[in-house]
Amino acid sequence: MQNTNTYILAIESSCDDTSAAVFCNNMVLSNVTAGQAIHQQYGGVVPELASRDHQKNCIPVIDAALKKAGIELNQLSAIAVTRGPGLMGSLLVGLSTAKSIALALTIPIIEVNHMQAHIMAHFIKSEAQDKPVPNFPFLCLTVSGGHTQLVKVSDYLQFEVLGETIDDAVGEAFDKAAKLLGLPYPGGPLIDKHAASGNPQRFQFSETKAGGLDYSFSGIKTSFLYFLQNNTQKDPDFVRTNLNDICASYQSHLIKVLLKNVKKAMAEHGIQQLAIAGGVSANSELRKQVKQLETEWKIKTFIPAFEYCTDNAAMVGITAYYKWQKGEVADMSLTPLARYAL
Ligand code: KG4
Ligand code: ZN
Repeated sequence: MQNTNTYILAIESSCDDTSAAVFCNNMVLSNVTAGQAIHQQYGGVVPELASRDHQKNCIPVIDAALKKAGIELNQLSAIAVTRGPGLMGSLLVGLSTAKSIALALTIPIIEVNHMQAHIMAHFIKSEAQDKPVPNFPFLCLTVSGGHTQLVKVSDYLQFEVLGETIDDAVGEAFDKAAKLLGLPYPGGPLIDKHAASGNPQRFQFSETKAGGLDYSFSGIKTSFLYFLQNNTQKDPDFVRTNLNDICASYQSHLIKVLLKNVKKAMAEHGIQQLAIAGGVSANSELRKQVKQLETEWKIKTFIPAFEYCTDNAAMVGITAYYKWQKGEVADMSLTPLARYAL
């Protein structure tokens, strides 16, 4: 009998994580990611350095993913790669590598939108877990370092942006506040960690209205800056002695702002299921509060496995699998897109 399994190698290199994953149909066989510690000392991602590290890590990461999956190159049906949005130099490394492999093996290439991939991470099947997946339509709150979007998902590859940030992403609001607190990049996970032992009601921050279902985080970030300046003028030791409470209050404020529009969107669009996705969906307080909405709002919620929140190639692989099923393959003139609408 002919083997009808589809094997896809997926590559993700849009920002500062080099990742490769291998899929058999919708089942992830391996997902290997190399982070880039070099950016910590600069307080943010330095694009030029990110590209160089991708160049260094890309082949070893692909090699490791294939080995872990126990799959040979000649078994692959297609190569999937993130086309954008992201840093141009970083994307070019992943895309050129994907094209080279596709050319060498004479197999098709499937291009993937990174923000679609974050959402599609909910459909990854794995040996380790067989989680329930959302039914259509569902609302996805996609929260990352570059994006904050409320997306109505009507089918596997059918997305409609209902609202998004008009300025900074919520991940930036986490990271920039962390930088002001003297924490290294990326500060989001560290705010999460300190917040766990702090009082979320201790300090208040301002809210900026963006209108409709949109978000605005740059005003909140500025109010946080003034809050720190005022308090450190009075007490130079303010940050050190109040770090946990500052993190808990600020984090709680950002989550309150995020969930306000979620509630509005679900009511306006009559949607009963909520998913979260993207790097900030790794935040423990956001995960906890979203879970609680099941009883508070009587809805179903879907929280991605921790390893599929921040950038990874498994989310690219699962998106590619559904594109492959629809026959959506790219050609060799494919170019990266720094901006790529959902
Ligand atoms: O999705 P992602 O890995 O990359 C982008 O596509 O941007 O998201 C990275 C963002 C960073 O801003 C990082 O600080 C944030 O996700 N992040 C967190 C947590 N883990 C990652 N923010 C808050 N709490 C966390 N636990
Ligand atoms: Zn991302």
